[in-house]
Amino acid sequence: MSSSKGDPRTWHAWSRWKDSNLLGVYLKEFTKACKKASHVSFLDCFAGTATSQDHQGDTFTSSPRIALQTNPEFTDLVFFELPENAIELESALRIEYPSRSFTVLGGDCNATIRDGLSWLRDRGTRISGPQLGPAIAFLDPDEVQLAWSTVEAIARWDGRRDAGDFVRKGKTEQLILFPTGPLRRRLPVQAGSHEASEKIRAEVDDLFGNSDWRSIYDAQRAGRVSGEDSWMHYVEQYRLGLTQLGYDYTSAIEVRNTRNVVLYHMIFATNHFAGRKIMKAVLNRAKSELPAMVKEEKISRMPRKDAGQTLFDAEPDGAPDDLPTDWALVVDTPPQAFDPSRFPAIQKQEARETEVQDTLF
Ligand SMILES: C[S@@+](CC[C@H](N)C(=O)[O-])C[C@H]1O[C@@H](n2cnc3c(N)ncnc32)[C@H](O)[C@@H]1O
Repeated sequence: MSSSKGDPRTWHAWSRWKDSNLLGVYLKEFTKACKKASHVSFLDCFAGTATSQDHQGDTFTSSPRIALQTNPEFTDLVFFELPENAIELESALRIEYPSRSFTVLGGDCNATIRDGLSWLRDRGTRISGPQLGPAIAFLDPDEVQLAWSTVEAIARWDGRRDAGDFVRKGKTEQLILFPTGPLRRRLPVQAGSHEASEKIRAEVDDLFGNSDWRSIYDAQRAGRVSGEDSWMHYVEQYRLGLTQLGYDYTSAIEVRNTRNVVLYHMIFATNHFAGRKIMKAVLNRAKSELPAMVKEEKISRMPRKDAGQTLFDAEPDGAPDDLPTDWALVVDTPPQAFDPSRFPAIQKQEARETEVQDTLF
């Protein structure tokens, strides 16, 4: 993704997939499954700007609009965005959706999450309202801005303002972008590189809500876990945290860019059978859709004389066409804590860390 002030942000295939194919499809199925509920809510913690553009200049629908266009409709929506974007986002959405019930909270979502949840509570009575209905949160940071305390506040939200209020039954579902690429840049592992500073480690502690991830980093630095696969251990650790918050199903899909570098993992957490079933179907489709979109982008960037040829097979690090799941790996087995004893010291460092040269998101 790239942007300069005042311009729409520019996105790539892996971001378009996230909005159109993952969020768009999942939200529609979510509200359909909840059609008997009187209130169905959506929380968008990193809502973005009013307009999004892909790398070829085509505009595409951003997450607030996807949510507002979802049919059956969400009854109540909360958008969180930094102040500089929030005003513009709110005025654009008020013009387009004047009769809808939504709020845009300007500020750091980690600080305003409770205001957003209170806003939902304030729209209900003690015995009914959005705070008691099904809800889903989309958390889509572009760096490591999402604090675990926010994920925890959403997971533990019971919809009550005081003891006289009814308590919500289900947990709010969460769809979280885990920032693998930004994390890799913060935690260098190449031989001869400096270790991450204590300041960076504290930032990563905030992301995970604890420092258990440090044993993975130590094992990477010692050359005991290596290569691209090692980043999945961090994802497992994160999913484990969600399990400990009471989610009985979590999944992750690995998303790579045109250079086959892992950019992010899309993590999903639910307690609902329907949510699990719908997400499994969406993720299965992703295994073919996502590689096709990335491939299309790769071809569209090639010089005209090469366009039309498939470069994946020709490039040493490319993804083979016949192995699309390598480009959209889905994991939903119960997450395990990282156990360093399973990774004894190896003589020869196999690590071949790929620099992130491409624009992220
Ligand atoms: C990846 S973009 C969001 C894209 C949007 N969700 C979509 O799918 O169209 C991340 C957004 O988060 C915003 N942001 C960054 N830090 C934030 C924070 N602490 N609280 C709220 N928003 C933040 C950025 O301004 C940026 O617009």
